[in-house]
Amino acid sequence: MEVIISKDAPSSSTLAAAHIARVIREKPDAVLGLATGSTPLPLYKELIRLHREEGLDFSNVRTFNLDEYLGLAPEHPASYHHFMWENFFSRVNIQATQVHIPSGLISGPEVPAYCSRYEEEIRSAGGIDVQILGIGSDGHIGFNEPGSSLASRTRIKTLTQRTRADNARFFSSENEVPHHVITMGIGTIMDARRVLLLAFGAGKAEAVSGAVEGPVTASNPASILQLHPEAKSFLDEEAASGLKRRDYYRWVFEKKPSWQRDL
Ligand code: GLP
Repeated sequence: MEVIISKDAPSSSTLAAAHIARVIREKPDAVLGLATGSTPLPLYKELIRLHREEGLDFSNVRTFNLDEYLGLAPEHPASYHHFMWENFFSRVNIQATQVHIPSGLISGPEVPAYCSRYEEEIRSAGGIDVQILGIGSDGHIGFNEPGSSLASRTRIKTLTQRTRADNARFFSSENEVPHHVITMGIGTIMDARRVLLLAFGAGKAEAVSGAVEGPVTASNPASILQLHPEAKSFLDEEAASGLKRRDYYRWVFEKKPSWQRDL
């Protein structure tokens, strides 16, 4: 995994956004895998700026979001539908018909068939070109909590108490955080052609060090990215603070041959 350490979240997000913008300019109908949470907010802000000031065109871009809380209607302020429209989709020229987010209103025995259809939709779009990921403080990606099968596909998951507590800030109280979610699986994420993991702040340092330098293990789901051929992690200084080889990663980035800079 390539590790790119920047001084802060905005500069890290600018690099990640430049990577995504290149993909969209080369393939205007690129398929983006999108994430929610506080981490990708500066990335979405920069993509919006590139759209407004540099003409980055989303009119043919297709998107698939990682996950959604079960039991939340799209208009619920803590739903990931609401998050995505509020923070990104309504601010660029994406077509609503090209946006895919798992429904929070599926219930009971309909869930497995719904999840299979979500996988099928990703496949028929030609697969995900770039998957954006945050990371949970326990190493989860999407909502694949520790212990998730490293080969898992889109399905229902039960959140850990730690994740419910971490995400309680988006709800009026921790009790309101749903227990169940639909999430792309780790196998689904690994099928993406490129993966960009973003992590900022000291609260992510332990999860990041396990993901980047620990063993590949279901106990830290993000560690599977060590087996992905095109995975990059964009970290700020604090999130990188637990990495033993951080000086080497900085050195690699500084010494990158010019022809490799844009890849
Ligand atoms: C949620 C999301 C993840 C996200 C994680 C970290 O659990 N399902 O996709 O990476 O939160 O969130 P934050 O970026 O707010 O720390």
